[in-house]
Parts: sequence; structure tokens; C-alpha cells
Amino acid sequence: MNILIFGPNGSGKGTQGSLLKKKFNLAHIESGAIFRDHIKNGTELGKKAKEYIDKGELVPDEITIPMVLETLKEKGKDGWLLDGFPRNITQAKKLWEALQEAGMNLDYVVEIKLDREIAKNRIMGRRLCENDPNHPNNIYIDAIKPNGDKCRVCGGALKTRSDDQDEAAINKRHDIYYDTETGTLAAAYFFKDLAAQGKTKYVEVDGSRDIETIKQELLSKIEG
Ligand code: AP5
Repeated sequence: MNILIFGPNGSGKGTQGSLLKKKFNLAHIESGAIFRDHIKNGTELGKKAKEYIDKGELVPDEITIPMVLETLKEKGKDGWLLDGFPRNITQAKKLWEALQEAGMNLDYVVEIKLDREIAKNRIMGRRLCENDPNHPNNIYIDAIKPNGDKCRVCGGALKTRSDDQDEAAINKRHDIYYDTETGTLAAAYFFKDLAAQGKTKYVEVDGSRDIETIKQELLSKIEG
């Protein structure tokens, strides 16, 4: 099974993506996480990407598109969930071309819908567990408050992401997401059009509810 997941930054695409990955045994390919690994390892790509990520801007397509498509070829042979890519209309078209060339199906496209203010709050309260960054921990949300300064799931140490505390950078990330002309919603609607032609299936969920409710709705709409 191959799935693409869209949602504004902070909508829970990483959280739901991680649950879907486990359920269907998929390779979880997250463009943001690939960049963060490069940054941690001090690679040239990581140094370039950091300049853009810290400002809340997209890393240029010349770097991002080949990086993600290569990872998809390497790790996605037995099913994948792609999270964070595509983020603009150019990336969407390149992905669709690459899938067709490789003879790969796109089974589902998921769109998590969420109001911008709620998404911003979730980003600023997010805390990342050293053992699994998708363990839900958020200092502003009672249901998933950390245990003191430790992960509520496994007790691991928690940290914040450097691009999560800068409100101007978060606003920029959201401007790109909600742009229906050339931004990420334009990319999502490109696939919605393909779904209307019967070339994939498009699933929309309301991301304002709790994690378990959203997960159950997604599982009821996605057939394994
Ligand atoms: P990336 O890592 O993709 O970050 P992002 O898009 O900003 O997404 P987030 O991880 O912030 O949000 P999420 O929706 O996954 O939310 P989460 O599940 O954690 O990208 C980082 C940067 O890399 C980009 O800014 C860009 O510069 C660059 N980049 C990446 N891809 C690129 C591309 N294709 N092209 C160019 N540049 C690219 O949830 C958020 C919080 O809410 C957590 O605390 C969570 O526990 C909580 N939560 C989740 N669901 C719920 C719920 N239902 N109820 C209550 N709380 C919830």
C-alpha cells in the first residue's frame, strides 16, 4: 500500500503517519526527518537545508525533489507512507511523473484539515522524545501532557525542535501550506483532481479531534 499524507504543520500528520505505518507495515518517509538527520550528521545537504528550515522556508526543489525520490526508490519497494512531500505544485507533478515511470500505484491521499491557530498552538507546545519523535507529548494539551520533563509513552528525555518556537517562521510555514495557487494545498488539490478521475482515492479527515478518534476514522476509510 502506498499513501501520501497532507496536513498543515502541527495537524498531526507525523503522529497519524506513524500509526498508519505500524498498522500497514509501511516505510515512513518524512522529508523533514530526512533533513533533520542530515543536519545532525553535519552533511553539506544538511548545512544548506538548515538555512531554509530555520526561517520557515521550503528547502529549494533542486535539493528536495531528488533527495525524496531517491529515498522512495531505495526504501519504498514494499509500500510507503510519504509525509511532508510534496509541498508545492512543482513537487506534486514531479512525484506523479516519477510514480508513473516506476509503475507504482498511489492508493490513498489523506488530507488532515485543521484551523491555523490550533495548528500553531500544537507546534509551539510539541515536545520530542529522544526515542521516537512521534510519541505524542504536548505541554498545552491535557490529554498528551508529558510526565514532568519525560516522555509520557516511554519515559525518554524530551526536547524542542529549533524551528518550533519562532512564531514568524511558523506563520511562514503556514502561509506556504494554505496557499491554494502554488503551495501545499495546491499540491493536495492536484491529487484530488486525479482522484476525481479514478486514479487514486482521496480521504479527508477533521484534525481538530483527539488522536485516537482521527486514527479510527482513517482506518475505517483506508482498506488494507
Ligand atoms: P516537517 O518536519 O515536515 O515539519 P512540518 O511540516 O512543520 O510538520 P510538523 O512535524 O511540524 O507537523 P505534523 O503535522 O507532523 O504534526 P505532529 O504530528 O508532530 O518539515 C520541517 C521543515 O523541513 C519545513 O519547514 C521545510 O523547511 C523543510 N521541508 C520538509 N519537507 C519539505 C519539502 N517537501 N520541500 C521543501 N522543504 C521541505 O503534531 C504536532 C503536535 O500536536 C505534537 O505535539 C502532537 O503530539 C500533537 N498532536 C497531533 N495530533 C493531535 C491531536 N489530534 N490532538 C491533539 N494533539 C495532537
